[in-house]
Amino acid sequence: MELKEFAKDVASRINSFMESYINKFDDDAPELKESMRYGLLLGGKRARPLLVYATGLALGQSIEKLDYAAAAIECVHAYSLIHDDMPEMDNDKLRRGHATVHVKFSQTVALLAGDALQTLAFEIVSDEKSGLSDRAVAKLTRLLSTKAGYQGMCGGQAIDLASEGKHLSFDELRLLHSKKTGALIRAAVLMGAACADNATDAQIEKLDEYAKWTGLAFQVWDDILDVIGDTAVMGKTQGSDISLDKSTYPALLGIDKAKEFAHECAQKAIASLKDLAIDTSLLEQFALFAVNRDH
Ligand code: IPE
Ligand code: IPE
Ligand code: MG
Ligand code: MG
Ligand code: MG
Repeated sequence: MELKEFAKDVASRINSFMESYINKFDDDAPELKESMRYGLLLGGKRARPLLVYATGLALGQSIEKLDYAAAAIECVHAYSLIHDDMPEMDNDKLRRGHATVHVKFSQTVALLAGDALQTLAFEIVSDEKSGLSDRAVAKLTRLLSTKAGYQGMCGGQAIDLASEGKHLSFDELRLLHSKKTGALIRAAVLMGAACADNATDAQIEKLDEYAKWTGLAFQVWDDILDVIGDTAVMGKTQGSDISLDKSTYPALLGIDKAKEFAHECAQKAIASLKDLAIDTSLLEQFALFAVNRDH
C-alpha cells in the first residue's frame, strides 16, 4: 500500500475516534473543552498514530485495538505542541495553520488544555472497551509515561530550552533531538508492537532501532524546514528556531550537511528493518517521507 493513501485513511479514522472522546465530555468547562478540541483535532499529519497502526497491523493486530494506542500518543503529542508554543517556551503564534492555543484562548487555558490532553491519553489507553489484554495495557502505560516524561520528551524540551544561544556538539544535539522528538516516535512504534501480544523481543529490538533513527531523522528535517520551509505550507512560522538561536542541525552543520545527515538517518532506519519477517513497507516509506516532506 502507498503511504499517502494509508496516511489519509488512518488520519480520518483517528480524527473521528478522538473526536468521539471529546464529545463525551460534559460542558462544565466549555472553554477548556473547546481548546482541547482545537489543539487536538485541527490539522496535523497524525504521524505518530500512523506509526502505531503501521507497526501493529504489520504484527497482525486488528485496527480496532490499535485505535486506543494511536489516539493516546496523539493526545500526548498535541499537549506537547500546545506547551511548546507558549511564550515561556518557543513563543509561536501559528500552529497547524491556525493561531496557537494560547493566542486563540489564553495562556491559562493553554496550560490546562495541555494538562488535560496528557491525562486524556491515559484515560484512553486504559479504556476497558479497547479489548486489549491487561499485559498490553500495562506496557502501553509504561511506554507512554516514560517516553513522554523526564526520560523522554519533557527532558528533551528542558535541554532544548537550556541550549538556546549555546553551541552544542554533534552528540549533545543528537541527545536533545532523540529525547524531545525521538522519544514519542519511539513510543509510537513500540506501542504498536505492545498492542500485538505476539511480538518477539528480537522483532521489538529491530523496530526500536528503526524508531530511534526515524525519530532523529524527523527532528533533523523539522530543523531543516525551519530554514527552507514555507510558513503557509508548514502551518507554522518559518525562522522560529533562527530567531530564538536554537541549537539545530542546520545551525551546527549548514543546510547541505544537515540534509545529508537526515537522509543517512532514514537509510539507517530502513536498514534496521532488514530480516524482520513482517511487511515493513509502510515503515520504510515513512522513514523516507520524514526526510522529504515539505510540512
Ligand atoms: C512537530 O511535529 C513537532 C516535532 C516534534 C517535530 P509534527 O511535524 O508531527 O507536527 P504535526 O502533528 O503534523 O502538526
Ligand atoms: C518540538 O520541537 C518538540 C516537541 C516536543 C513539541 P520544535 O519546537 O522544533 O517543534 P516545532 O518546530 O515548534 O513544531
Ligand atoms: Mg520547541
Ligand atoms: Mg517549537
Ligand atoms: Mg521545529
